[in-house]
Amino acid sequence: MGRRTDRNKEPGGKLSVAEFLRLVPERLKKIAGSSDSDVEQAADYPVNRLAAEIHPGTQNLRIAKVCTLSADTKLYTLIPDPESGTASLAPFAPGQYISVRVEKDGRILSRPYSLASSPEEAAGNGKGDGVYEIAVRRIPGGEVSGHIHENWEIGTRVTVSEPMGEFTYERLRDAGCVVGIAGGVGITPFRSHIRSILRGGESFRLILLYGVRKEEDIIFGSELEEAAKSGMIRVVYVYSDEKKTGCESGFITPGLIRRYAPDSEYSVFACGPSSMYRFLEAELPALGLRRKYVRYDAKGQIMEPRGEPDYTPADGSEYSITVRRNGDGKTVKCHPDETVMSAIERGGIAVPSGCRSGECGYCHSRLVSGRCYIPASRDGRRQADKIYGYIHPCVSYPRSDLVIEVPPVPAGPSVRGDTE
Ligand code: FES
Repeated sequence: MGRRTDRNKEPGGKLSVAEFLRLVPERLKKIAGSSDSDVEQAADYPVNRLAAEIHPGTQNLRIAKVCTLSADTKLYTLIPDPESGTASLAPFAPGQYISVRVEKDGRILSRPYSLASSPEEAAGNGKGDGVYEIAVRRIPGGEVSGHIHENWEIGTRVTVSEPMGEFTYERLRDAGCVVGIAGGVGITPFRSHIRSILRGGESFRLILLYGVRKEEDIIFGSELEEAAKSGMIRVVYVYSDEKKTGCESGFITPGLIRRYAPDSEYSVFACGPSSMYRFLEAELPALGLRRKYVRYDAKGQIMEPRGEPDYTPADGSEYSITVRRNGDGKTVKCHPDETVMSAIERGGIAVPSGCRSGECGYCHSRLVSGRCYIPASRDGRRQADKIYGYIHPCVSYPRSDLVIEVPPVPAGPSVRGDTE
């Protein structure tokens, strides 16, 4: 192999192409001269250990603290549960979520919740002493949020997914200033961004337009006031149902965004209910922003599919869904405006899920026969999936009787074999 010279190195000391090419014959010579006996398998590759820490699939945690944030919202602090197989928390980027799995009446249900704490808090001191925080708003009639509010207390053991989601800040893609639009409990991922900015984990200016009905609906108010003193964050409250001095009233419109946005380029990040997204999708083009500068937090299911612009009415009032897995089959009933996933879960069959909004692909299932309505705004399938008949049940609505094959739910670190 030739001697390395500075002439062959790229600026910064990296290997140049010329030097790399000189390595090839040397490497081929070594391969040709090596023994062809079996290579002993290393039981524990450091890289595999690291991958398992970063992507554990599921995590078994415990509730360490419960705080009431408002009449309908509680903040839960979660810590690792080494006895159940999780020694430390998986790292994440601000804006990501975890999917929380609960067992109710013999059924396994899951919902995504944004991580409201920062990655720095999850890391702790690196000794398994980190925390996650999630805020759960009790939705009227909500099975999972109601179950959590009624049953989760200090010491409760819970199973959650690894962190997921794309509602993250990327320095190479996003502008140096972000106008954040938070609707109600949609403030939670922004709290994670804010806490990370204050700890030096992220570096961008955030102008947060926080929309609520009334002052009493604000959560994390004192923290937001404190964060605003840093100079990196500005918070503007927008009340839809009342007027307050020094605050905006009405809804978040392009005009309002322009009033607070900088003259330079900026990104828009929005997190809130699906009705807010529909409104913004229609209104935001007026700002003329580049597409890469607009991000929506997509997790969570569509509550009213009838509001989708391409909504396709159904012929029937109820359909049968035959669910197959590992050769077994079970039939459940589904209303045309209910997602296939909800119907399957209601029937007592657990389905892998993450975002519940068509984005992550965890629920990816084969549609053996039948037709579905899939809103274009939520259809995150790859082209190959469309061609070969795969659907995401979390955003699919039956338009005929269906036969569907669903994958098994991944087991947690210490609960292998207990889920379907
Ligand atoms: S749960 Fe993410 S695509 Fe269905």
